[in-house]
Amino acid sequence: MKTLDHVNVSGKRVFIRVDFNVPLDKKDGRVADDARIQAILPTLNKVVNSGGKAVLASHLGRPKGKVVPEMSLAAVARHLSGLLGKDVPLAPDCIGGAVRSMVESLREGGVILLENLRFHPEEEKNDPDFSRELASLADVYVNDAFAVSHRAHASVHGITRFVGECAAGYQLAKEVEYFKRSVETPERPLAVVIGGAKVSTKIGVLENLIPKVDLLVIGGAMANTFLKAQGYPVGKSLVEDDFIAKAQELLDLAKNRGVRVILPVDVVVAPNLDSTGQARSVELKEVPEDAGIYDVGERTVEAIKEALSRCATIVWNGPLGAFETPPFEKATFALAEFLGASKALTVIGGGDSASAVKKAGVDRKVSYVSTGGGAFLEMMEGKILPGIEALEACMGKE
Ligand code: 3PG
Repeated sequence: MKTLDHVNVSGKRVFIRVDFNVPLDKKDGRVADDARIQAILPTLNKVVNSGGKAVLASHLGRPKGKVVPEMSLAAVARHLSGLLGKDVPLAPDCIGGAVRSMVESLREGGVILLENLRFHPEEEKNDPDFSRELASLADVYVNDAFAVSHRAHASVHGITRFVGECAAGYQLAKEVEYFKRSVETPERPLAVVIGGAKVSTKIGVLENLIPKVDLLVIGGAMANTFLKAQGYPVGKSLVEDDFIAKAQELLDLAKNRGVRVILPVDVVVAPNLDSTGQARSVELKEVPEDAGIYDVGERTVEAIKEALSRCATIVWNGPLGAFETPPFEKATFALAEFLGASKALTVIGGGDSASAVKKAGVDRKVSYVSTGGGAFLEMMEGKILPGIEALEACMGKE
C-alpha cells in the first residue's frame, strides 16, 4: 500500500481523514480515552515534520446531519494541542469560505482540525458536491481512519474521486498489515476467539473464518445459543432462539472442515446480573432454570489457555463474559492476561476486547490492538471496506 513515505508533502495541504470518534467524559466533556488520537500521531508528525500543512477531518458520534454542540470536536482539538505541545485551532465548520481562509493561512508544519463532518447530512450520503468541497481543501488526501473505512461516506469514499494524490496513513497501513498477517497469511496454527452478546452479529465473521482457522473458541453470551443448540439447559440466559439452527449449522461446518471448537464446559451463573453476591460456578448440565449464565467457568478458561498455548496466531474479538460487572470479568481478564504473556502473534479487535486488554494492563504487551469496531468485524467477515477500495482506486489512477 502506498503510504505517506511515498509522497512529498512539503508545502502542501494534506487533508487527513482521521477517526476521532472518541468517548467524552460525561461530567467535564474532556476526552475520556485518547487511543484513537494517539494512533494517528505518527502520520501527523510525519506531515508536520516534512513541512506539510495538516488539515484533520473527523466525525464524532451520530449527529444525523445537524449541528449538535455536544458533538463538537472542540475537546479533541484541545486534547490534541496538549499532545503536540502547540495550538491546534478548530475550524468553525468543515467546508465554506471561513474554513478555506483558515486552511490557506496555514503555515508549513501547521495543524488545523475541521469541525464534525457529520454536522452535514451530505457526509453520510456520500454527496458528490460535498465531496468536491472537501477535496478543494486538499493537495494530498490521506486516509488514516481505518475505524470508519467501512462507511462509504464523503470524506472516506467520495472525496477520493476529486483529489489528485492519495496515500494511506501509517495507522491504516498497520491495520491492513496485521489483518493480512493474522487472517490472510497467518503462521499456523491459527486460533480465533469470538465472544460478545449476540451470535446474530457474528454470523458473517464465523462463516468467513471457520474455513480459515485451526481452532475456534466461542464464549460470551453468544455461546448460550450454541449450548442450547446442543441440548444443554441455559436457564434465563440470553439466547437467540431464531439462531439456534444457524449455530448448529456453524458447528457442523467446523466439524466438516476439521476445525476444533471449544465451547464452555462450565459456567458462572447468578439469578441476574445485579445479584453478583450469588454468583457461582456450575457444570453445564446443572444450570438452574431460574439463573442466567454470565461468564465461562475456570475449567473452560484452563481448556482455552491450554489450546491457545499451541497456536502461533491468535485473533480475539468479544468478551467471554459480562466483564464490566465483577465477578463476571474473570474469564475475560484471564484471557487478556494470557494473550499479553503469549509469544504468538496476538491481534485484538472490537471495542469491548480492546477495553478489556487495556483494563487488564496488557494493551502494550499484545501484538496489536485494532482501532476498529465495526470496521474490524467487516474485515473479519471478508468484506472489502469501501474506504480502502476507494483509496486504492485513487492510488491506481495516479
Ligand atoms: C466507530 O466508532 O466504530 C467508527 O467511528 C464508526 O462510527 P459509526 O458506527 O457511527 O459510523
